[in-house]
Amino acid sequence: MEEPSTGDGEPYFAERPRSRSRRSELRFLYRGELLTFALDRGVFGARELDPGTALLIEHLAVRPTDRVLDLGTGWGPVGVAAAKAAPRGRVVLTDVNRRAARLARENLDRNRVRNAEVRVGSLFGPVAGESFDVIASNPPYRAGRPLILALLAAARDHLTDGGRLLIVGKGAQGIRFYQEWLETHWDGPVEVLGRGSGYRVVEARRRTPAGPGQGARVAVARRGRSA
Ligand SMILES: C[S@@+](CC[C@H](N)C(=O)[O-])C[C@H]1O[C@@H](n2cnc3c(N)ncnc32)[C@H](O)[C@@H]1O
Repeated sequence: MEEPSTGDGEPYFAERPRSRSRRSELRFLYRGELLTFALDRGVFGARELDPGTALLIEHLAVRPTDRVLDLGTGWGPVGVAAAKAAPRGRVVLTDVNRRAARLARENLDRNRVRNAEVRVGSLFGPVAGESFDVIASNPPYRAGRPLILALLAAARDHLTDGGRLLIVGKGAQGIRFYQEWLETHWDGPVEVLGRGSGYRVVEARRRTPAGPGQGARVAVARRGRSA
């Protein structure tokens, strides 16, 4: 399903796709607004919105002021939706594929998004030293398990305390394996937010550490109760 969806059999994670451009247009309704997108060959979802991506957007729990990272944005459906959901926040969209990054920039403009930007690069390279309230991704499963595990391992360090990683995938892509990996390696709760057509959206939360301030507040309350 994934590879043919670039429209020409070329892997969707090529940095500089060689296929000839053949653009098309797609629209979908999000939160009552009709969003419009340019699509192209050589970019994931070259002809249509991937069903996994649609499920991720449906379960994109983003607050109005959130800082969001859309890692592996393709032509930008998740990042544009996140920017609409967080009008007072900020969204960074990244991709290794330069054609995807160009399309995503165009699609921000088409949808009059002013609170987002597109950066080119692999994994967290383009956002070194930055933290987000939400990292949302339909990850590049075809790039192989080591890359996906590198993504999951590094994501925690790019989340604020209490921040959430949202990934979508299906059984064949090993989403259950990655969910279990998150349950084992992350310290916060891991939940399935949505399911459909064999896909699931998994949320992993970075636990908020109980700092000295919080510990002191608990101690005061306990003393108060027993007095
Ligand atoms: C499954 S596609 C999802 C695209 C888009 N978010 C969507 O849902 O339609 C994964 C995307 O990750 C990009 N990608 C592949 N390897 C990457 C890497 N190392 N770092 C960042 N993005 C990468 C691909 O170019 C592709 O656009």
